[in-house]
Amino acid sequence: MEELKLRIRKYEVESDGAKVEELERRCEVGPSERVFLFTDTMGDPICRIRNSPMYIMLVAEMDKELVGVIQGSIKVVTIHNHPPKDLAKVGYILGLRVSPNHRRRGIGSSLVVRLEEWFNSNDVDYAYMATEKDNIASKRIFMEKFTYTKFRTPSILVNPVNHYDLQISSNIEISRVKIEQAEYLYRRFMSSFEFFPNDIDNILRNKLSLGTFVANFKEDHFWGDFGSNGHQVPNSWAMLSVWNSGEIFKMRLGKATFSCLLYTKSWCLIDKIFPCLKLPTLPDFFNPFGFYFMHGVYHEGPFSGKLVRALCQFVHNMASKSKDENCKIIVTEVGGGKDNNNNELNHYIPHWKLLSCPEDLWCIKVLKNHQGTTTTTNTFHELTKSPPRRALFVDPREV
Ligand SMILES: CC(C)(COP(=O)(O)OP(=O)(O)OC[C@H]1O[C@@H](n2cnc3c(N)ncnc32)[C@H](O)[C@@H]1OP(=O)(O)O)[C@@H](O)C(=O)NCCC(=O)NCCS
Repeated sequence: MEELKLRIRKYEVESDGAKVEELERRCEVGPSERVFLFTDTMGDPICRIRNSPMYIMLVAEMDKELVGVIQGSIKVVTIHNHPPKDLAKVGYILGLRVSPNHRRRGIGSSLVVRLEEWFNSNDVDYAYMATEKDNIASKRIFMEKFTYTKFRTPSILVNPVNHYDLQISSNIEISRVKIEQAEYLYRRFMSSFEFFPNDIDNILRNKLSLGTFVANFKEDHFWGDFGSNGHQVPNSWAMLSVWNSGEIFKMRLGKATFSCLLYTKSWCLIDKIFPCLKLPTLPDFFNPFGFYFMHGVYHEGPFSGKLVRALCQFVHNMASKSKDENCKIIVTEVGGGKDNNNNELNHYIPHWKLLSCPEDLWCIKVLKNHQGTTTTTNTFHELTKSPPRRALFVDPREV
């Protein structure tokens, strides 16, 4: 490897903001022949991690030119069999970018090394990252060079927001629960889900959180408050929470294949000519648009899948009525568990295959301080070698 005058340091808002955004614009994520989405951080490149309990952004500089960037965050989550009490400290890696003119010179690797050092100095047990399964560069750097191991492949489901309301079945009741009730419900029903964040209350209280909603069938005659009055819940019920990601960053199409462009254009045309068909509208991909992220989707009881669908329709209607006209898609990420009913969520959550990603590749690694300890090795083995016991909880702060 060529000798580099490389300096890695912490990101500084004043002097680096515009340069990091410029670098992001020059970096394509994913294979060049496919459509890809840019994140437009609207002048605040650190916004994607700012809501995490601990976070850092590092930049790589060569001869005063900013040539690379990486972000990381730390939190405590549920990991089965990790002592004490199935809780572990995890570090999430995201936003690794190296300027196209400076690639294959070890800059990306140096950024990963420094971020892992920061994780180690904060006593993190495991580092993890997510990537597209066909991002060869990302897979080789993390999986081959830094020995990250594939452990889950949840699906990212994306649905466009229409300009009209969706009809929700009249026998379904939907209500918003208070933050305390939402926290109670999550800790009682989802705290055993993999990667459930121990500080769920921080997520629910965050200003980006638009609320937690529950649904039940009217014929169940459930008059109580969910989770209060003796902690009752109806026979069949479902819940989810909504996070306004568009408030902090926007999406924008970077490049589209001809067929995709044609498809988008003709779809909009059909929608204009035949509005009565009530075709779902595709977002205007080329201007920045916002989105809602649905998280903590849970359901139980007979026919509760229908309740999940009704909740998604409710969130859609929230988005279509929202003052922020820029909220053009609803996104969620679910699954990762083969032997539980959460994979079936894909059938109940409305989404467009064209816009969705069936397999987001999540990879994990035991960090240095914990390598070789029996408990961590056993837990890691269970995480990567055996089928997951419960589905993943996808934290909206890491989208
Ligand atoms: C992925 C990326 C950050 C790599 O940065 P980099 O500075 O070129 O990485 P390094 O020079 O440290 O490469 C380390 C190893 O990763 C692998 N690698 C990196 N780029 C690769 C590529 N384009 N194809 C195949 N393997 C690649 C190689 O094994 C390489 O070692 P080698 O050069 O000795 O063969 C850079 O290509 C990039 O910014 N891509 C666009 C954004 C992106 O996809 N980020 C990852 C999202 S998780």
